[in-house]
Amino acid sequence: MDNEVLRQWRELPAKHQPTWPDPGEVTRACQYLRSMPPLVFAGEADELTRLIGAAGRGEAFVLQGGDCAETFADSTSADRIRAKIRTILQMSVVLTYGAAVPIVKVGRMAGQYAKPRSSATETRGETTLPSYMGDAVNGHAFTPESRTPDPQRLVDAYHRSATTINLIRAFTGGGFADMSKVHEWNKGFTGNPAYRRYEALATEIDRAMRFMTAAGVDDSSLRTVDMYSSHEALLLDYESAMTRIDSRTDEPYNTSAHFLWIGERTRDPEGAHVDMLSRVHNPIGVKIGPTASTDDLLRLIDKLNPQGKEGRLTFITRMGAETITEKLPRLVEAVQGDGRPVTWMSDPMHGNTITSTNGYKTRRMDDVMTEVRGFFDVHKAAGTVPGGLHIELTGDQVTEVLGGSEDLSEERLASRYETLVDPRLNQAQALELAFLVAQMIRDADWESVR
Ligand code: PEP
Ligand code: CO
Repeated sequence: MDNEVLRQWRELPAKHQPTWPDPGEVTRACQYLRSMPPLVFAGEADELTRLIGAAGRGEAFVLQGGDCAETFADSTSADRIRAKIRTILQMSVVLTYGAAVPIVKVGRMAGQYAKPRSSATETRGETTLPSYMGDAVNGHAFTPESRTPDPQRLVDAYHRSATTINLIRAFTGGGFADMSKVHEWNKGFTGNPAYRRYEALATEIDRAMRFMTAAGVDDSSLRTVDMYSSHEALLLDYESAMTRIDSRTDEPYNTSAHFLWIGERTRDPEGAHVDMLSRVHNPIGVKIGPTASTDDLLRLIDKLNPQGKEGRLTFITRMGAETITEKLPRLVEAVQGDGRPVTWMSDPMHGNTITSTNGYKTRRMDDVMTEVRGFFDVHKAAGTVPGGLHIELTGDQVTEVLGGSEDLSEERLASRYETLVDPRLNQAQALELAFLVAQMIRDADWESVR
């Protein structure tokens, strides 16, 4: 494919792009990025496409999780990155053991540095400044210096993504993810029912591991796991600079992450984001909110997966707990009628954001769980496959989401509310959700649709 085609998005409407003060600096930053090595390889992206395809058939389940917005400050903390990986690993152990399907692990990590915002500006008192758009664009501090978009941050985002993906590869390949460590991941965590439940499960897994060792089974898949990277492909200049022609296949791949998704606000089928990602061979997700029409979905399939390749296109539905059972059936039916395969994932976070009476942007665990339940119910009724879960989580004991087995109250939100954008499940809440979803996968009668 020639480079002209790869640049066609520049002619199309592009929403949610920063207003950079000096476009020349953006060009220079992107020239630098183009000279730098890829963060992921085409073969890895192809393998993920295959796995997401399996999830679309009910032979695997995708777990995608991480921060709403990663921060440069946290990117230097190996502890925090490890804690996030540990939460994803614990959730996937619960899901694998409980539901007996392979779990495809994808981090919202190593590049989740850009955010679309509902308003381009933020006003406090007399002062209006550009909204915070993620550390790849500007700083969170409410000063003119910090809020002015700075293209050097694109370069910084690349380097921090590189160190994060290095840690992910080291932790997941270098012993931390060893199945004989399932107890260790839970060490020091007590008090919450989800931890106790996990502890009991870890004891069972330990026994199974000892049995396998005694029986002479020595499989490397029990010692290492594959974890893939993903982020919202929002900043077109950055994503374009990271798009490369693979020497093996001669096809373009976005080498900034294995999986890229298009947000609810930028999924215009005729827009620049869809065009750019239609040209690359990575597996692609699109967020689907309550205003999406059946026509929108069919046009997205036409653009992003015209040939109907399994695993290429994932629709990540984020409808809201109240809305999902009303809105999703028609969409699922239309896609089913089209016949080209789609992997369906549930994002039970973004349709359920509320403001607490004491002023925090939060979500209720109950709503999160209701939306996931609605997602499974709709797919069961349609005979289609619920293929994965997309959530915002952290490995830390933050207090950002209401409810859960500790019944986190509005008053407690203040005690450890750290997110810069959306509220994340803490480790215990994430585990709790995993137990619930494991049960739902077990109850989903996939045999009938396979
Ligand atoms: C997000 O995933 O953080 C996000 C902004 O989601 P959505 O595009 O679904 O609103
Ligand atoms: Co978010």
